[in-house]
Amino acid sequence: MPPIETLHLGASAPDLARAAGLLAAGQLVAFPTETVYGLGADARNGRAVAAIYAAKGRPSFNPLIVHLADTGAAQRHVAWTDCAQRLADAFWPGPLTLVLPLRPGHGISDLVTAGLDTLAVRVPAHPTARALLREFGGPVAAPSANPSGRISPTTAEHVLAGLSGRIAAVVDDGPCAVGLESTIVGLDGAPTLLRPGGVAVEEIEAVLGHALIRHDAGGTVSAPGQLASHYAPAERVRLNAEAPRPGEVFLGFGPMDCDLNLSPAGDLEEAAANLFGHLHALDARARPIAVAPIPDHGLGAAINDRLRRAAAPRD
Ligand code: TXA
Ligand code: MG
Repeated sequence: MPPIETLHLGASAPDLARAAGLLAAGQLVAFPTETVYGLGADARNGRAVAAIYAAKGRPSFNPLIVHLADTGAAQRHVAWTDCAQRLADAFWPGPLTLVLPLRPGHGISDLVTAGLDTLAVRVPAHPTARALLREFGGPVAAPSANPSGRISPTTAEHVLAGLSGRIAAVVDDGPCAVGLESTIVGLDGAPTLLRPGGVAVEEIEAVLGHALIRHDAGGTVSAPGQLASHYAPAERVRLNAEAPRPGEVFLGFGPMDCDLNLSPAGDLEEAAANLFGHLHALDARARPIAVAPIPDHGLGAAINDRLRRAAAPRD
């Protein structure tokens, strides 16, 4: 692909109208959500969706999340259930993705679902994401706006560092508040945790009144593309480190001596918001990264999931 000039847009109404026009024309537009920046394309346009895979260099078996302006728009594409309604009432708009059976006449390109008969849908909370989705008026497929296998972007600068010259535009509205991708729950059968993320599993279980089915790390992969090595910095990552070894940079948590701290106060929400930005910053120092232990409850479960993927052995 010859490089194209990537427009750096803001969140003003004329800029969002321009971004929506690019989406309608089948172009790729990166935009902020409360979790991470997404790389958006019209989910009904197979060529536009194919361009996402090309720009990210992503394996084509990995299905994408479709972003919608509200619950009513989601219901047009999937077979809705009581459970979906309860979770949507509790967590939408917000960092929760629901996987449901596709509805007849859904209109979604099968490149989005990678041929599955289910669709991942989410209504993001970020006001700029919602304004763009309303202005566009259709379903937007959007993976995180990073080259495949690299750290997810939480600022427009991260997006441009990875994808400048490969996408039509980025809508810049500052850093993402949550900083971790959405939690994914499969509702095609008994409610199942497919990926921990921005909504703590305990909160979802409280709304449902029972536990989610979970797949342990080595178990069946039911979210295709849950590759072990993912979110990877270029440098090696070592977890649960009490202290750095010679040559390592140290990513801390809680009060301690370190190069960068996810949350000096030991706050898991602050740590989630800082996770990808701090990994980007430490990776730029071109030294192996040691990471302090992170408690495994609440958002800590999602942080540890991302860190294990960042640390997984790669080819
Ligand atoms: O917070 C987020 O979810 C961000 C922002 C941009 O919204 N998006 C994001 O998308 O993280 P992505 O493409 O990086 O992750 C999509 C995940 C993949 O792990 C994929 O396997 C899973 O969603 N997924 C998508 N469709 C699915 C389906 N039909 N069944 C099971 N898993 C699915
Ligand atoms: Mg991603």
